[in-house]
Amino acid sequence: MNSAANIDVIILAAGQGTRMKSALTKVLHPVGGQALISHVIEAAKGLANTKIHIIVGQNASAVKKHVLNAHPDLEVNWAMQAEQLGTGHAVLQALPNLDTANTALILCGDVPLIKSGELNKLIETAALNQLALLTTELDDPTGYGRIIRDTEGNVCKIVEHRDCDDSQRATREINTGFMALPVSMLSSALSKLENNNDQQEYYLTDVIKLAKAQGDSVTGICTNDFSSVLGVNSRSDLAQCEKHYQMRRAQTYMDAGVSIIDPARVTFRGSVSIEPDCSLDINTIIEGPTCIGSNVVIGANSIVRGSVLADGCRIEPNCVIEDAHVGASAVLGPFARIRPGSKLSENVRIGNFVEVKNSTLAAGAKANHLSYVGDSDIGASTNIGAGVITCNYDGAYKHRTVIGENVFVGSDCQLVAPVTIGNNATIGAGTTVTTDVEADTLSISRTKQKSVQGWKRPTKK
Ligand code: UD1
Ligand code: CA
Repeated sequence: MNSAANIDVIILAAGQGTRMKSALTKVLHPVGGQALISHVIEAAKGLANTKIHIIVGQNASAVKKHVLNAHPDLEVNWAMQAEQLGTGHAVLQALPNLDTANTALILCGDVPLIKSGELNKLIETAALNQLALLTTELDDPTGYGRIIRDTEGNVCKIVEHRDCDDSQRATREINTGFMALPVSMLSSALSKLENNNDQQEYYLTDVIKLAKAQGDSVTGICTNDFSSVLGVNSRSDLAQCEKHYQMRRAQTYMDAGVSIIDPARVTFRGSVSIEPDCSLDINTIIEGPTCIGSNVVIGANSIVRGSVLADGCRIEPNCVIEDAHVGASAVLGPFARIRPGSKLSENVRIGNFVEVKNSTLAAGAKANHLSYVGDSDIGASTNIGAGVITCNYDGAYKHRTVIGENVFVGSDCQLVAPVTIGNNATIGAGTTVTTDVEADTLSISRTKQKSVQGWKRPTKK
């Protein structure tokens, strides 16, 4: 338990998200490959002296399981909202766990792109014994609660979109869903909540007018960073959030010296580090955990997932690389598939329509055309010819193929594992290798070619 905690952070995540029309609870839908609630948790982790409370209800066990898996070091006080009677009712469920001397910071689990900086502004304002509310102005405020100010410009209440009259609905300033206030103020306002509105729910937003009524001051802080307060209620909101999130990430990499040919056409998911002077072409998807060294070039339409790409390697277009290590200055593709457990050393070359799985290729080894290299260890400078297949699976077990250094495997060979080929061996084209091959030898297995003189091809009658 964090004994220094003086901020009680409350994350609302009990709703199902009906408007998503999904079996998956809304806060578990991904943006940038990470659940919405995970983004909110990350923003909360950027604050000092916090204790985190999460309100769960619909699919509570799935939400809990996700949080425990994705944030194993996070200490969470869970609160259960068995029936979803509104956002105010949700906060009420956490109230018994809050410290009345603390500041409460309320976050929506469905507003993922919030930044710690904005939250700190709320916390600082609330510390002056006020209710601090984050607002923004939108060209299209549809669906959001409207901020109603008095003639002096002070916030007096929030009216939900569906409860607005025409003039209120014309208001462009909206409630972002983020607020901070002293726990004591929250507690007395919540005790007066009613549900006389269109949805018959207990709205957290009514806390504003209740706080005013009990003589507390309310400060609206208007941010112009609209993307940081985008809420997700529908699939199209989700897509919008994704777009803004990707732009934000692309900008961070570009600022750090990475060239991105078109920042609107790359996708990053999870933790990805990229060193300067890399270049990413369009339709690149990079999923973490991935580390990319300097001067790496990734061609169009490539997917890199859970991998390390060392300095100077070049990924030609249309490659898929998963849970693999690609050594410095290696060249892959176009159209290469590198599957989990593959370790390619420096200067390896993997060409088009080559699949590598759970194999090591030592420095300078090459497989340039149309091959399957699975469960194999291939020595330095060895050349795997076009169409070579390692037959690693006997229907029940996988076996390894071990090939030494500087071996030449001719085109269209099958290597039936388990089999070992010694250094400097040569395997003639078309050979089926079923027994071990000694170093410095030539192995060849071919039926002798015959020619039939005067052979006539059949013709159509
Ligand atoms: C809410 C605000 C609205 C604001 C908008 C910003 C209210 C009444 N309205 O509307 O003013 O403009 O967010 O994005 O607060 N939840 C619960 N329990 C419930 C109901 C909701 O935990 O009983 C959670 C949901 O899981 C969600 C969050 O609270 O994470 C917001 O709920 P949602 O229904 O999306 O509210 P909005 O209609 O977006
Ligand atoms: Ca919402």
